[in-house]
Amino acid sequence: MDTLTWLFSQKASSTTLQQLQELKFYVHDQEHTVNTSDLPPETSLNTYLRKYSHLTGTKYMCLEGGCGSCVVAATVMDPVTNREVIIAVNSCLVPIYSCSGWKIHTSESIGNEKSGYHPVQQKLVQFNGTQCGFCSSGMVMNMYALYESGNFTMKDVENSFGGNMCRCTGYRPILSAFKSLAADASSDLLGKCADIEDIRVCKKTQGQCKQNCLTPCIKRSQAHYYDFGKSRWVKVFSVNEIFDVMKSSPDASYMLVGGNTATGVYKRTKEPDVYIDITSVKTLLEHSISNDSLVLGANMSLTNAMNLFYKLAKEDSKFSYLENLGDHIDLIANVPVRNTGTLAGNIFTKHEYQQFPSDIFLILETVGATLTIVGIDQQEVTKNLVDFLSFDMKHKIIKSITLPSLDASYKYESYKIMPRAQNAHALVNAGFLLKLDDSNKVESARIVYGSINPSFIHAQNSEAYLTGKNLFENETLQGVFETLDKELVPDFVLPDPPPEFRKQLAIALMYKFILSITPDDKKSARNKSGGAKLVRPVSSGTQDYETNESLYPLTQPIPKLEALAQCSGQAKYIMDMHDEPGQLYGAFVLAKATACSVISKIDTTEALKLPGVVAFYDKNDIPGENNFMPKKASDLFSVPEEIFCSGVVKYYFQSVGLIVATSQEIAENAAELVNVSYVEGKETPYFTIREMIAKNPEGKINLAVKVEAKSKGSDVKHVIKGKFDVSWQYHYQMETQCCAVIPGEDGLDIYPSTQSLNLAQTSAANALNIPVNKINVFVRRIGGAYGSKISRNSLVSCAAAIAAYKLQKPVKLQMSLITNMNVIGKRNPCAADYEVGVDEKGSIQYLNISVYSDIGSEGGNEAVISELVYVLTFIYKSDNWNINAYYAKSDNHTATWCRAPGTVEAIGLAEVIMQHIAFTTNLDPIQIRRENLKENQADLTKHLDDLIQWADIEKRKQEIEEFNKANRWVKRGIASVIMTFPMYIFGNWYAHVSIYQGDGTVSVSHGGVEMGQGINTKAAQVCAYALGIPLNQVSVKPSNVLVTPNCMSTGGSLTSEAVAYAILKCCDTLKERIKPVKEKMKDPTWAELIYQCHLEYVDLCASYMYHAALPDVKSYPVHGATCVETEVDILTGLYQIKRVDLIEDAGNSMSPEIDIGQVEGAFIMGLGYWTSEQIIFNSEGELLTNRTWTYKPPGVKDIPVDFRVKFPKNNPNPIGVLHSKATGEPPLCMAICVPLAIRDAVASARSDADSTADRWYNIDGPSSVENTFMNSLNNYKQYTI
Ligand SMILES: Cc1cc2nc3c(=O)[nH]c(=O)nc-3n(C[C@H](O)[C@H](O)[C@H](O)COP(=O)(O)OP(=O)(O)OC[C@H]3O[C@@H](n4cnc5c(N)ncnc54)[C@H](O)[C@@H]3O)c2cc1C
Ligand code: FES
Ligand code: FES
Repeated sequence: MDTLTWLFSQKASSTTLQQLQELKFYVHDQEHTVNTSDLPPETSLNTYLRKYSHLTGTKYMCLEGGCGSCVVAATVMDPVTNREVIIAVNSCLVPIYSCSGWKIHTSESIGNEKSGYHPVQQKLVQFNGTQCGFCSSGMVMNMYALYESGNFTMKDVENSFGGNMCRCTGYRPILSAFKSLAADASSDLLGKCADIEDIRVCKKTQGQCKQNCLTPCIKRSQAHYYDFGKSRWVKVFSVNEIFDVMKSSPDASYMLVGGNTATGVYKRTKEPDVYIDITSVKTLLEHSISNDSLVLGANMSLTNAMNLFYKLAKEDSKFSYLENLGDHIDLIANVPVRNTGTLAGNIFTKHEYQQFPSDIFLILETVGATLTIVGIDQQEVTKNLVDFLSFDMKHKIIKSITLPSLDASYKYESYKIMPRAQNAHALVNAGFLLKLDDSNKVESARIVYGSINPSFIHAQNSEAYLTGKNLFENETLQGVFETLDKELVPDFVLPDPPPEFRKQLAIALMYKFILSITPDDKKSARNKSGGAKLVRPVSSGTQDYETNESLYPLTQPIPKLEALAQCSGQAKYIMDMHDEPGQLYGAFVLAKATACSVISKIDTTEALKLPGVVAFYDKNDIPGENNFMPKKASDLFSVPEEIFCSGVVKYYFQSVGLIVATSQEIAENAAELVNVSYVEGKETPYFTIREMIAKNPEGKINLAVKVEAKSKGSDVKHVIKGKFDVSWQYHYQMETQCCAVIPGEDGLDIYPSTQSLNLAQTSAANALNIPVNKINVFVRRIGGAYGSKISRNSLVSCAAAIAAYKLQKPVKLQMSLITNMNVIGKRNPCAADYEVGVDEKGSIQYLNISVYSDIGSEGGNEAVISELVYVLTFIYKSDNWNINAYYAKSDNHTATWCRAPGTVEAIGLAEVIMQHIAFTTNLDPIQIRRENLKENQADLTKHLDDLIQWADIEKRKQEIEEFNKANRWVKRGIASVIMTFPMYIFGNWYAHVSIYQGDGTVSVSHGGVEMGQGINTKAAQVCAYALGIPLNQVSVKPSNVLVTPNCMSTGGSLTSEAVAYAILKCCDTLKERIKPVKEKMKDPTWAELIYQCHLEYVDLCASYMYHAALPDVKSYPVHGATCVETEVDILTGLYQIKRVDLIEDAGNSMSPEIDIGQVEGAFIMGLGYWTSEQIIFNSEGELLTNRTWTYKPPGVKDIPVDFRVKFPKNNPNPIGVLHSKATGEPPLCMAICVPLAIRDAVASARSDADSTADRWYNIDGPSSVENTFMNSLNNYKQYTI
């Protein structure tokens, strides 16, 4: 009898534990029963829904609560109120055994084609809030929970999506869609809907139904447990029962399961022997007020705590400070995490990991809260939070948290400075509580900081210093800042920001707090706004475009064809494919050694012993070439790239081999058990361009393009030198790289998440050494790509194909987010040094640029340096420019194309140089651009002139100037950029159109890949338009290599147009064939005509290949102009994008809502690149920002507060397909305007700080909060009242 069995069979306690074999809950209105023998206790709700219930509408990506793709809604019983509440939860974090009695709602169940769609689904479709659709189910379900919970405002909507990431849309349409359902929905939202045929409305939710039309859930209130042999799950209902379980198994490891969300921050490495589910222990959830103190059950959820705080703050002035606590909790994690995550779970995590920058710990310790801790012996002790950290918590629980009441003499505030607006942990957090007497003397002080170092909590010396001092005196301020300066000693642990920033920020927060409580008559008017936090209004957006009704459905603003399927979980991705009989899973074994190390041994003994492990393959097992970028696939590829490391490690985390096992989890666990030994290599690795420039190691930096000036001006009044350094950008496609391979009688069927079917096919055949026609590739859609799946998926598809081929078994390979980020290359880093001489008007006399683009260790196939130089010199007079352009070969993962590769750096660099000139010469930045533009730029300047008027730039500039004069610590900035994006014409793509004799409906297949850009919708619109039939008669089928072989990868913004062209040609051919029949008939319907054609043996399918050598296919420029206004809080480095006006020359858009989506999404991806997205490696080249906890693309509240997009009217592209232009990439290039606008604001602070300081500062990575704060020249000596 094992220990646990013995313990549970003893009557060691008063609790009678009933053993249950089955767990019951509902998924929508269907009862589900789970047998304990089928599912281990660590099974998540997500795994259950997807794998066991085949409800694959719910997705997953990060598995740590950070992306929102897994969000579902659940109706649960609140044990305190005994009422049902509906909440959004992260199904990836919820253990299935927590779900007893729950009613779970998924995107499939709330509305579908059969029963009708829920209003939330309808709105997301109508507002075109889906692109790749991978985030859509999570978005819908998060909103569903809010919708079904009752009345909500636009502000509530906007605040609720911090945990739902979307890389495609830029969020604006999602927010518009959901805000249109709010009680206070603005009239523009109520009136605006993209054209769509009638969507069937769910009968249950017609009108404003708030009822749950579900059968009652199962209720249980007696302690019970599930036995899994090695472990147990015990559900308890009282504190005593918790201890009874502990008593009955004193040696067992245990976990008190609250929301189980802490594992999203610190992954559990070992599962406990006993899970004690405490979610129904009423004592731990209730609150009471006694002796003027508020006592909270320790396991109150963060959401409930927040709501309670807001309520009490209103009701009782002694608790008015709780409003600030509520606001602080609002900045923790995101709504679904807060719905299940608890106060005690958070504090206990701090107990376990003292480096955890816990916000709950911070705010509770600041107000002097205490914890009541009960032990197994029923003894209660009260601890303050500091003492708790070193208190032995074995067999003890936090029972309650007591918060004091505070009268008006107490001044409380707390701050959380994050890299983005929501869903990020603190760079620094701070809490301040001062008690002041009537003469403003400090009677007591509590100053608490997080993220300084693991042991730092109170700034004790500063607390002591302040006590007894008169607060609102500059001398006191300087004294406390100096004391803080001495006692704050931040550690330096990458990827956290540097110590100096954190120290200075901490001091600035103290100043901000003091300003916030200083009476107005005591502080200077200019300092006043420094005491306030940035307030973000509810965002809005306008989209201005014209359509031509006579061409409908062409130019018609319609939502994506697949949108309803995406919103109702019907749209299938590769990860959703059902398991085949004998299904196996793969996981890469990665080199955990610095680049240039040499593999000496691979020991798989332990891994292969793990039950379920089937095989391990490495370089020796590849039947063909160890190269996933074979030249055979494309002339573009000249550098072989290894599938599995051949000996010398090319980069940290290179793939060494593949473990194949019966489940993904086993494969991943086994991959960690493969022991790879290394010896030091001969070469020294280099990880940054600047390091390589400094040391110039042989072969690392190579001149790629040299442009010599033809002339040089002599009127040099200013010489300006600058640097422009930008780093990697992770694509952040929500569907990580994956591939499913099924061997069969005709070779292998491959389902890769690729932008290039041809590469997947050819590289797999090459690696297996089998004929290309033995590889059949199919792609229906992919869950976002942005360039990441042009070439990089080939690594995954080759590895999966090798395993499937060797084993003759189906193999799925889906990278975890961490592996995906570790292995897969990103946007090329770029560095440039420039020196420019200009005359008085800012006209360039000479410009010398050295520019370097990092291609990574095996790079070269996707070098962007030539394009970069081409675009750099595209619009500005460049006869007097010298350019030396190099590619730099670092020892990082191989750089890969990322939306607007090369172009974004080129346009960024050119615009930065123009802005730098303007700053130095003190001339109007727009004028500087005009001064340096090439001749004949009327098309471009037309848009610039339009922008100046439309955005009212001159007036706003003046207002900003006034504002900046009047405010020392909050600054505003404005910047404008222009863009010409040269659209290259390349490649070839097929389209195939078939008309069915049965009813005249039409199917289209094309060689592009639907990845969110709306290629299928445009294809259908063009086809319907060309054939003159309704849109709903056209269906677009998955792409495959039989019908559309040898196609170029989908990318470069071009494919939609290319496919449209090919479809037009197919339709021309078909119409030509149909014409003679039609002429013989009298007013036939389309169906009659087609049927007659069939009878007369008319060929009703046509194929056409678009290619770059066609005479009427020509390159063209895409112009644009953008103005951005920012507001920067100088004392924190936080900023807000107040307004963006963006003009994009889209020609005659074939599908304006789709194109608006491309423009907004691309701009926000650029916004992230230039602000919050930071890739950080350690000195060994190991990636440290490889999860949602550390890598921060923009969220909903990072987008412009006011986002206006306009497509110029009457603007056909004379040489474009159907007069349109591409939209996928160009707008990203205009996002450079964001760091320029931030610089414009910061420049004012720099001048205020030091009148001699250069107003400009170099581009050195993203204009992050840290970068912005440090460049604002904050100096506490200037912090006065
Ligand atoms: C995406 C994400 C972002 C986040 N961002 C932030 C952030 O910005 N700031 C921040 O402060 N936090 C953040 N968190 C942490 C979050 O607040 C915690 O995960 C949550 O509060 C933990 O509560 P839980 O109930 O889920 O704990 P669980 O995961 O259920 O438990 C965690 C630990 O606490 C123990 N425990 C639970 N209850 C008790 C008790 N009563 N007595 C003793 N031990 C107990 C458990 O045994 C376990 O060891 C984030 C979390 C996620 C997933
Ligand atoms: S998969 Fe659950 S939040 Fe990302
Ligand atoms: S539509 Fe949101 S991630 Fe693609």
